[in-house]
Amino acid sequence: MFKKRAGALLAAALLVSVTSACGDDSGDAGGSGDDQITIGFAQVGAESGWRTANTKSIQESAKEAGVELKFSDAQGKQENQIKAIRSFITQRVDVIAFSPVVESGWDTVLKEAQDAEIPVILTDRAIDSTDETLYESFIGSDFVLEGKKAGEWLVDEYQDQSDPVNIVELQGTPGAAPANDRKAGFAEVIAAEPKFKVIASQTGQFTRTDGKQVMETFLKSHDDIDVLYAHNDDMGLGAIEAIEAAGLTPGKDIEIITVDAVKDGMTALSEGKINFIVECSPLLGPQLMDLAKKVAAGESVEKRVLTEETTFTPEQAKEALPERKY
Ligand code: AHR
Repeated sequence: MFKKRAGALLAAALLVSVTSACGDDSGDAGGSGDDQITIGFAQVGAESGWRTANTKSIQESAKEAGVELKFSDAQGKQENQIKAIRSFITQRVDVIAFSPVVESGWDTVLKEAQDAEIPVILTDRAIDSTDETLYESFIGSDFVLEGKKAGEWLVDEYQDQSDPVNIVELQGTPGAAPANDRKAGFAEVIAAEPKFKVIASQTGQFTRTDGKQVMETFLKSHDDIDVLYAHNDDMGLGAIEAIEAAGLTPGKDIEIITVDAVKDGMTALSEGKINFIVECSPLLGPQLMDLAKKVAAGESVEKRVLTEETTFTPEQAKEALPERKY
């Protein structure tokens, strides 16, 4: 049914490290020999538990859908993602999908994909291009809404307090959509009440190591921190180590809000070390395979596919943990 594209060129394969996993193309696996498509997927890296779960979801779904997946890990660098996308163009994959490390700077390479008539799907993170013809669809969360949910919990938690509430913020990777948007959504909600003061805000690169290190510096320069807002669980978990090492009790002396709801975060939440988590689902694989098959077949697809998400208190985390998939 689909036009089979030419195989990988050796030069392109040398240009960037891309691993290829071919799905089972028996009828049982959901694909068949004559309609198999190839997706080139350029992943951000492996910075967090969320990212590892996202990679697993994409690889497993490709297998189940009988899709050939060429997977590239950009190790957190935009230049590596651009190289991977160029390599996928040279290899003439059917669909290119990627989760952009940062929001800006994609127009040139996406124009190259467009000129080569290879459809592009954005997963997880958006780009700030004004040219929406450069991609077919964007599947992922509403990060501004996630930041707002974090802010709303805080407003509710401190509704009876009139004294200032001192907040420190661990931001995600600078320039990344979830860092920009989670900051903006949270700031918008807490701005309504002047008692909320963000006394320090710095990137923790979405990693545990940096989250711990930056929290240590926050604790050295401020002895009056009431709340930590971390843009993901991993940074929050790193910060918990720093808080405990400073002789304080996470969740009590300093209240903690994070985003993601991966198993480690949910465990800390169930133990009372984190107070509230806003969910961000990494399980985008099945929807991505579905969309990719449709765009490869020339079908029109929704420009924006929103992920359904919830929030968790410690009690809800205890209930959800036994069934948690990531
Ligand atoms: O883009 C999604 C974000 O990236 C996740 O919240 C974070 O953990 C990851 O690294």
